Amino acid sequence: MDFKVEIAKLLKSSIESLSEEEILDIIEIPPNSDMGDFAFPCFKLSKVMRKAPQIIASEISENIQKPDFISEIKVLGGYVNFYLNNYMVIKQVLDKVLLEKENYCKKEPKKETVIVEYSSPNIAKPFHIGHIRTTVIGHALYKLYKYMGYNTVGINHLGDYGTQFGKLIVAYKKWGNVDELKQEPIKTLLKLYVKFHEEEEKDSTLTDDARAWFKKLEEKDEEAVRLWTFFREESLKEFSKVYDMLGISFDSYAGESFYSDKMPAVIEEIKEKNLLQDSKGARVVDLEQYDLGVALVQKSDGSTLYLTRDIAAAMYRKKTYDFYKNIYVVGSQQILHFKQFKKIIELMGHDYAKDCIHVPFGMVALEEGTLSTRKGNVVFLEDVLNNAIEKTKTIIEEKNPNLQNIDELSKQIGIGAVVFQELSNSRTKDYIFSMEKTLSFEGETGPYVQYTHARACSVIRKSNGFDYSNATYKTLADNEDAVSIIKILGTFDDALEKAMLKNEPHHIARYVLDLSQAFNKFYHSNSIANIDDEEMKKDRLALTKAVTYGISSALNIFGIKSPEQM
Ligand code: ARG
Repeated sequence: MDFKVEIAKLLKSSIESLSEEEILDIIEIPPNSDMGDFAFPCFKLSKVMRKAPQIIASEISENIQKPDFISEIKVLGGYVNFYLNNYMVIKQVLDKVLLEKENYCKKEPKKETVIVEYSSPNIAKPFHIGHIRTTVIGHALYKLYKYMGYNTVGINHLGDYGTQFGKLIVAYKKWGNVDELKQEPIKTLLKLYVKFHEEEEKDSTLTDDARAWFKKLEEKDEEAVRLWTFFREESLKEFSKVYDMLGISFDSYAGESFYSDKMPAVIEEIKEKNLLQDSKGARVVDLEQYDLGVALVQKSDGSTLYLTRDIAAAMYRKKTYDFYKNIYVVGSQQILHFKQFKKIIELMGHDYAKDCIHVPFGMVALEEGTLSTRKGNVVFLEDVLNNAIEKTKTIIEEKNPNLQNIDELSKQIGIGAVVFQELSNSRTKDYIFSMEKTLSFEGETGPYVQYTHARACSVIRKSNGFDYSNATYKTLADNEDAVSIIKILGTFDDALEKAMLKNEPHHIARYVLDLSQAFNKFYHSNSIANIDDEEMKKDRLALTKAVTYGISSALNIFGIKSPEQM
């Protein structure tokens, strides 16, 4: 039983003017439990009905027949507040968690397909700390949609095309060598790129050479394609190290180059729809009337652009996957780009424009002194992760020197910590990355959550297989600490739903932090396994087991491991 839905049904029986869905949307979870478990604010209705909210609230509550799962209905201010019957909630929530285990609240498969495009670094460029957000948020959303039952397609829209590849080919042919490139692909390619720009200042024929080589690449010249493939593959190998560390893989690596041969058709269609204009030999779409400026779709030399490739990609994805949603996890610097792109496909008459969703995020900066940078001011994501692992190792060796498997655990905790802190931040805010805060076992961190999970596992381990499978939960109803854990467990569905609707994983982080805090409070003020009362012991162990599932289900969606010992 979904209590929120049941309450919406109940309210519907005494509210004419709103649909059940609308009511569901209005119902809130009050900030503290003195105000009930659910509240229905009457302010919106008050405007429509031209009556004071308090009066409406009273009328509603008088008309409602209190069902068994509700212990009390109170009118407070302009709210109708509902208090659930503790025992019924306990029974329902714990039965469900213990049945569904680490797939708690996972949804049945649906037929719709959701594409999540994320990470999408540029070939031959560093995979740096700035990429952490798209990579980690995107991966969490990908896993979330999967959890919610959608068919999901994770796409890495690699930046693997553009005139810079002409420059790289020239530079490589002049100054590069295979072994060096294979050893350290990104560093070497970056160096070649920088050298090209330095030399270009002195020798302008280089510019022409680069243009000529890019043209060859477009024309699928054998040597150009071979070198480009080599750069792409070596870069990908290096990116993959980070993906492996994070446990990420993609369903498709169709990046910008994939669309290079699909450009003429796109330009043709834009033209057919009367959207294409000439501007000094270049082709543009005028979006001034939508306040989106003028969008360049083809340069005067005939080459296409980032924007045009995105239009082609959306068309291709619709045709290939018939997506229900096509989500782009890309920084907020590209808001204008995505608005232009959406507007153009909308004007082209593609109604799926509305299903293309840009999920932007703020910037990340490193706290001063967090990590010394490799040469050239860029902080590689790989270095951040390795540093987190190393530091974690020192921390856990000190805390628990007898722990087995310290290396593997340091990875799970160190990487989990970086991922968790990323997802616990509100997506749209800028933030400062602090390694110390991230790795702390206290506060709102990944290690804190993992530690809580391990603590709960250890309680169960120490109970030596005591059988709690027929717990009745009767002793939990008067235990305030226990009830508050269960109520938080009961909000997971809501957190998942919100996280999905807003493409905002931090709702899940909030849930798992609240759950951890509540369990730790319970743990500190109640004995769990060391009690004589057998009924109570069963109930408390069952609750403890439920907490492990409540935590691991959430961390799973984040791609974070839940070690049983740490
Ligand atoms: N490669 C781009 C960058 O690093 C991000 C690509 C975003 N995705 C897209 N479909 N435009 O800035």
